[in-house]
Amino acid sequence: MSEKEIIDLEEQFQARIDRGENIEPKDWMPEKYRKTHIRQISQHAHSEIVGMLPEGNWITRTPSLRRKVALLAKVQDEAGHGLYLYSATETLGISRDELFEQLHSGKAKYSSIFNYPVITWADIGAIGWLVDGAAIMNQVMLTRTSYGPYARAMVRICKEESFHQRQGYEIMLTLAQGTKVQKEMAQDALNRWWWPSLMMFGPTDEASTHTEQSMKWKIKRKTNDELRQQFVNQTVPQAEFLGLTIPDKDLKWNEERGQYDFGEIDWDEFWRVVKGHGPCNKERLHARKSAYEKGKWVRDAAVAYADKKAKQTLKEAV
Ligand code: 3HC
Repeated sequence: MSEKEIIDLEEQFQARIDRGENIEPKDWMPEKYRKTHIRQISQHAHSEIVGMLPEGNWITRTPSLRRKVALLAKVQDEAGHGLYLYSATETLGISRDELFEQLHSGKAKYSSIFNYPVITWADIGAIGWLVDGAAIMNQVMLTRTSYGPYARAMVRICKEESFHQRQGYEIMLTLAQGTKVQKEMAQDALNRWWWPSLMMFGPTDEASTHTEQSMKWKIKRKTNDELRQQFVNQTVPQAEFLGLTIPDKDLKWNEERGQYDFGEIDWDEFWRVVKGHGPCNKERLHARKSAYEKGKWVRDAAVAYADKKAKQTLKEAV
């Protein structure tokens, strides 16, 4: 294809994006658009699957049957979100095995938030309230992302995330209105999960490598900093309602901006955790690799069954 032809195709593609059209798997797309989606959607999927690990550890430790049922449902939802997003990634011409290899080898990222330890039951409340709350902020925006399969996956996922956030906030409310020790547990969890939750939105806009192009291609509809600010504005009143204190001495309502001003994020910590040196990175990757190895017999059985069915159908057809 000549250079001029490629430029024409890229211009037509951008015109489609500017008209707000969804791009579908069989449409022409710039190779970089395809690669960006494989990167972002697969890392989103990895985040969902790895995110099951810290919460899964608490299913046998919940304080009541009611809490167990809610946590079970949430962890199962996350598995479904991961599979949904892996399927969306496969529409871009990459196999599931390649995606798992990228995760297990450390080539692919997943959200840094899941590399923090879940120390008390209050952490499960803080994860639902803050981590799923931040995820929803980002995912509601992604329901309008330009790649069709990703946008449609987000619509389904957001419905379930809202339940995740509400059940987490209810745990925090129960603890905050409970005994002195329970309220202290809730405050301790907020102190440990607040800043890593702000980091979920990614680096600042000027430090972000992908945001400018992702905004042009309407992969992102809002920048990292815009979403982070929206999350702070929404969450501070929720913490006040709980009677808990956000661990940020610079947090202050700015009447002029109509937003909260907040303190500087520790970007050294962010990059340290993203680069594999967080409290639980090794444990999380080990758990995923061991689950993949232990699950080999299930994959082999499913392939053998599918082959047998295909042969049977062929035999019946002749
Ligand atoms: N953790 C780990 N890596 C991160 C990160 C985070 N919180 N934020 C950014 N990064 C990485 C990016 O992946 C990129 O690295 P790469 O080029 O090797 O992929 C680099 O830091 C630069 O960041 P950018 O902001 O330029 O990258 P993006 O444009 O991709 O923006 C993002 C980052 C906002 C996370 C974007 O990828 C995104 O919106 N992803 C989809 C949503 C998602 O993945 N959410 C994760 C949580 S899912 C979840 O919480 C499940 C829920 O059920 C609990």
